[in-house]
Amino acid sequence: MEVFTSIPSLKNFLLQQRLQNKSIGLIPTMGALHEGHISLIDTAKIQNDIVVCSIFVNPTQFNNPEDLAKYPRTLEEDCVMLENAGCSAVFAPSVEEMYPEKPTLTINFGLLETVMEGASRPGHFNGVGIVVSKLFNIVEPHRAYFGQKDLQQVMIVKRMVEDLSFNLELIICPTIRETDGLAMSSRNRRLGEEERAHAPIIYKILLDAKDKIQNGDDIEEVKESVQLEFHVLAGFELDYFEVVNTKTLQPIHTIAEAGTTALCIATFLGPVRLIDNIIF
Ligand code: PAJ
Repeated sequence: MEVFTSIPSLKNFLLQQRLQNKSIGLIPTMGALHEGHISLIDTAKIQNDIVVCSIFVNPTQFNNPEDLAKYPRTLEEDCVMLENAGCSAVFAPSVEEMYPEKPTLTINFGLLETVMEGASRPGHFNGVGIVVSKLFNIVEPHRAYFGQKDLQQVMIVKRMVEDLSFNLELIICPTIRETDGLAMSSRNRRLGEEERAHAPIIYKILLDAKDKIQNGDDIEEVKESVQLEFHVLAGFELDYFEVVNTKTLQPIHTIAEAGTTALCIATFLGPVRLIDNIIF
């Protein structure tokens, strides 16, 4: 496995691969890798000759400086995991390499970003859109892999790929969970022992809300009961619980056809902000 920190060296490597007609899969990450990320590598390995994983804690998508400062950085361990997973190349640029100058471009994703993560983290998706576009232009992958775990992110990237005619196939991979149901996340390692023990309730509440909605309970009432549940749960501070259309991400009030409804949640658990979702 080769590790690149400069854009020209990575491009040169990829040019050699393309000259041999090799297909390229890209997995953009911010490192602190876990089995969720590795599942994306595994899928990409099946579908491509060459798998590139980028590791870059992208400052432009953090609206909270403390979150950026505390984001775990574990490049050495990440490279061991990637090597074991059979990844072909790692791209781990510095901030200066990616942003010699602060980008002036801003991307407006319209209604897709006025809700949920976009509403709670102003500027977040602009930063995601810019860094993902840059990675797409640098790597020019045949396929790019994103997790359903960050549903709003992948829907925004999907729209950006369509709107800007990026020449690649976007592959959405399922959320990988711990055995107790907690969605894997790099932020989980910031949870204290007690917080970690309480964290699986997030997924249980999602499943319970899904059952209620599928049994015909009123969506507004389900939302209120979830808010109440979090209100009395020690250590949690609910940011949002939304019932949305998977594609438009806009709140819905009745259930349409199968596969188009998503329950999305964001909550603080102590100082750590966790997100999760399910689609049905
Ligand atoms: P990061 O949080 O490191 O996630 C990288 C990719 O892994 C994302 O597509 C995310 O959805 C996926 N992922 C995370 N946890 C997962 C899980 N439990 N199961 C399946 N997939 C999971 O998302 C980002 O980085 C950044 O915003 C990025 C796209 C790299 C742009 O900076």
